[in-house]
Amino acid sequence: MRKQIVAGNWKMNNDLSQTDALISDLKGKTRTSDAEVMIAPTFTNLYAASQALKGSDIEVVAQNMHFAENGAYTGEISAGMLKSIGVNTVILGHSERREYFNETDELLAKKVDAALAKGMRVIFCFGEELADRKASNEETVVGDQIKNALFHLEAAAFQNIVLAYEPVWAIGTGETASPEQAQDMHAFIRKTLADKYGNNIADQVSILYGGSVKPSNAEEIFSKPDVDGGLIGGASLNADDFFAIVNAF
Ligand code: PGA
Repeated sequence: MRKQIVAGNWKMNNDLSQTDALISDLKGKTRTSDAEVMIAPTFTNLYAASQALKGSDIEVVAQNMHFAENGAYTGEISAGMLKSIGVNTVILGHSERREYFNETDELLAKKVDAALAKGMRVIFCFGEELADRKASNEETVVGDQIKNALFHLEAAAFQNIVLAYEPVWAIGTGETASPEQAQDMHAFIRKTLADKYGNNIADQVSILYGGSVKPSNAEEIFSKPDVDGGLIGGASLNADDFFAIVNAF
């Protein structure tokens, strides 16, 4: 059985006291689903968050990392540094990283390798822009993003990869892909994996949907057979909304 996962991407929100406050709210929530739950606070609050959530069933994950082990990369953070504070999962390839920080498939392939080499789990994000969808190019774009960054990997590496399909036009816009659009793309992604690595691998990889998931639409999106969870931005900043989404499974 594939893992069901709901991950909250806090992006550049919440200072230390707001992080503490949101974590105590999250700890007070009742869980009725078996989905794995993750939150991704900003770097400065990862240590505090991982300490505050030690022993809980909420995992603290990072929003990004550098590919090098260490060295002259001012302002950057390595996989080893994350692991040393108890962070074992990293989000890579978010469309905001691609758009504002020029992260390319080639760079992301190096980051994925570096994370896996340290035994980390990767939530690898990708998705088409509105113009791609309007031109009916979404499958080509998404297929290329996956192939370019991941298809150099051995099949076994996919035990530590979670995919997150996030159509750029649906991120932070309030516009969600319809459950059917999400399912169609997730089925395409799984087939792309199956064609390269076989059905066994393809069936084991969790594929999350991201883009304006909220309490009101989560259940319908998560009910689709190839949607294994969500990467949640805005709605993860409120404990009630986030847990309503977690409990939508
Ligand atoms: P959103 O963000 O839920 O605010 O649309 C999703 C994401 O960027 O991961």
